[in-house]
Amino acid sequence: MLRKAKLGDVDAIVALLTGYAKQGLLLPRSRQSVCETLLQFRVVEEQGEVLGVAALHILGDDLAEIRSLAIAEPAHGRGYGRQLVEALCEDAAQVDVPRVLALTYQESFFLRCGFHVVDKSSLQQKIWKDCIHCKKFPVCDEVAMIRLTPVGLLQLAQPAAV
Ligand SMILES: CC(C)(COP(=O)(O)OP(=O)(O)OC[C@H]1O[C@@H](n2cnc3c(N)ncnc32)[C@H](O)[C@@H]1OP(=O)(O)O)[C@@H](O)C(=O)NCCC(=O)NCCS
Repeated sequence: MLRKAKLGDVDAIVALLTGYAKQGLLLPRSRQSVCETLLQFRVVEEQGEVLGVAALHILGDDLAEIRSLAIAEPAHGRGYGRQLVEALCEDAAQVDVPRVLALTYQESFFLRCGFHVVDKSSLQQKIWKDCIHCKKFPVCDEVAMIRLTPVGLLQLAQPAAV
């Protein structure tokens, strides 16, 4: 079952994220940081166990970012990752955000989810808001990938103003 995260999920979320952060696949998140941003999070729960998590963070009026996407290893390949990404892209679309960003090592997964690779230097908002505070900056080896929401597709179809 995919649902919005609750306070009772926080410890399970932090445990899931910490495991992958230790492998360098995700940025670590403290318990406090997860609590403060809990409304951004969705989880996949099966039989009372949190098996997946992801969050959507709005970076500005034309871009939101998928953060902290993690599926417990035994549950990989069941479609939970894609379900979370779809739900977060839907959240972005509902508030008229045109583009959803992922900074990731999982290029093939995000390609399967309808994202395409973009040049990181095109993401000034992200770079100046977050990346400059990251220990990987400026030598970040993650791939930047974007998916347009229906609002973004509509903007693309409209002729540019003269
Ligand atoms: C990447 C991750 C979220 C994928 O979750 P998942 O639930 O196993 O993926 P899904 O079952 O929803 O897979 C969706 C599609 O992507 C493909 N896919 C999933 N992981 C893949 C991978 N590592 N490489 C290539 N394809 C992959 C699946 O085969 C499936 O393809 P389909 O379109 O033919 O059905 C999961 O492996 C994970 O948590 N990894 C560790 C943490 C991490 O790297 N998070 C991403 C941070 S941005």
